[in-house]
Amino acid sequence: MDIYEALRKDHDKVKGLLNRLVSLTQDNIDERHSIIEQIRGDLIPHARAEEAVLYNALRSLDAGKKIVMHGYREHIEAESLLRILQVLDKVDMEWKTTANKLKEALEHHIREEETEIFSVAHQVFSEEEAHMLGEAFEAMKPEIKEEGMMKSTLELMKNLMPPRFHSINDVSNRH
Ligand SMILES: [Fe+2]
Ligand SMILES: [Fe+2]
Repeated sequence: MDIYEALRKDHDKVKGLLNRLVSLTQDNIDERHSIIEQIRGDLIPHARAEEAVLYNALRSLDAGKKIVMHGYREHIEAESLLRILQVLDKVDMEWKTTANKLKEALEHHIREEETEIFSVAHQVFSEEEAHMLGEAFEAMKPEIKEEGMMKSTLELMKNLMPPRFHSINDVSNRH
């Protein structure tokens, strides 16, 4: 599976989960908990692995820098909405407005990724490289899956650092 297929597969899955979430009625509490948990469990590993494997490969190129930094910002925004949604869900407060905001934000983000970011990537990576990136992406996700919220935020910050800082950060993050 190449990186485009791997990312598309995840994108379609999360879009499906978001559609189910916003169609729930107020009394589907267990299903709501479960869908939000699944979105969290899929989205965070996807985003961290995507940053490490794809974004950072494109960020060093003039053609990719601007769109990749825009993508990072959208990851931060979507994850903030997800955190608010998790809290609203737990305390059983009105959650649907936030769920709809998250759905819109992610649909917009995914659309840009699959058009603008993919088109830069297609110009830069050979087919073989796209396959290698796909493998690396899939291999990385399970490791991120078990991380808590704080660790995943630290991972985002680490992905955002210029490459020359990565080795320093590895040391400070060792546990
Ligand atoms: Fe993505
Ligand atoms: Fe993304």
